[in-house]
Amino acid sequence: MRIFSGIRPSGNLHLGNYLGAVKNWIELQNKPDTELAVFGVMDYHGITTPYDPKTYRNQVLSVATEYISAGLNPDGKKILLIRQSRVPQHTELAWLFNTITPISWLNRLPTYKEQLEKSPKYNHIGLFDYPVLMAADILAYKAGTVPVGADQMAHIDITNEIAKKFNSMFGETFSSVKVPKIEGARIMSLQNPNNKMSKTTSAGSGQAGDEAIMLLDTPDEVRNKIKKAVTDSGSEIKFDIKEKPAISNLLSIFSLVVNKEIPELEKQYSNKSYSEFKNDLAEVVVSFLKPFQEKYKEINSNPNEVEETLIKSEENAINIVSSTLKEVKEKMGL
Ligand code: TYM
Repeated sequence: MRIFSGIRPSGNLHLGNYLGAVKNWIELQNKPDTELAVFGVMDYHGITTPYDPKTYRNQVLSVATEYISAGLNPDGKKILLIRQSRVPQHTELAWLFNTITPISWLNRLPTYKEQLEKSPKYNHIGLFDYPVLMAADILAYKAGTVPVGADQMAHIDITNEIAKKFNSMFGETFSSVKVPKIEGARIMSLQNPNNKMSKTTSAGSGQAGDEAIMLLDTPDEVRNKIKKAVTDSGSEIKFDIKEKPAISNLLSIFSLVVNKEIPELEKQYSNKSYSEFKNDLAEVVVSFLKPFQEKYKEINSNPNEVEETLIKSEENAINIVSSTLKEVKEKMGL
């Protein structure tokens, strides 16, 4: 099994990123059938939406530090932690894929239009071409397993279409890409359970306001956000996405954070009020974040170590993707 996944460093990580992606990376990295697991800070993707060039380099390092604090264990050989911009073969492969990707495939994607609505000034080719670079990120390593949340499915479909088209034009090169089953694939906003929890919100990029719990939020911030989280009418604590989307979302978060099945939690809270449930949820989230935040503080006191870890992984990544690039270029007559 070859695994690839990544996150845009447009702000620090929120609980949705953790439950929908990073938690699964950590589980997958040590599986005996994992031959290679590459996790990226997708800094080229991150510059397709507004960002601050003065703080960006540190922001990228901070996200890498968050991955390690959450339990990612890059050894530079089998488990790699990279910055996308430091492995230039990703963008080289993206250019080659650009020459075989019909514009109509990208026009079909909702993500481009959604981002454009949020930042109308960012109407550029990079944003439009985002999915082609993502396909290159994955296929450069010939990864077949991509642990991502549900919002990325349209991008995974395009990746498979590009792989298929390349194979049909130049000969069998890439296998199909699959997303493993992920329990926390769709964590919703605490303020509006119809929207996903996201780092780009009305509060501005990277400032999730009350909508998202950030992994680096203080205990009081967590408590306040959960206290303010919207609930549904009625008083029963029951998982029912249609009738009770807000409580269902809070139940999902609770269940994933403490590794308890939802029916068990429903039973536990059958005679309890929303506020008792929310108080308990706040405390389990605070306890869950504590070791992560302690590790983050410890690692962050020595940023050179993170930089060295990244460089070691990036060197190996370049070796791996260079062989794919060589094969692709030869097949394309370059
Ligand atoms: P990004 O940065 O938007 O999100 C990173 C990961 O977090 C997941 N996620 C969520 N999961 C559950 N609930 C949520 N509310 C939630 N919000 C985010 C996302 O599904 C994703 O797994 N395009 C990617 C970055 C990327 C990438 C790649 C991923 C670039 N190249 C190659 C995999 C493979 C993105 O924007 O993720």
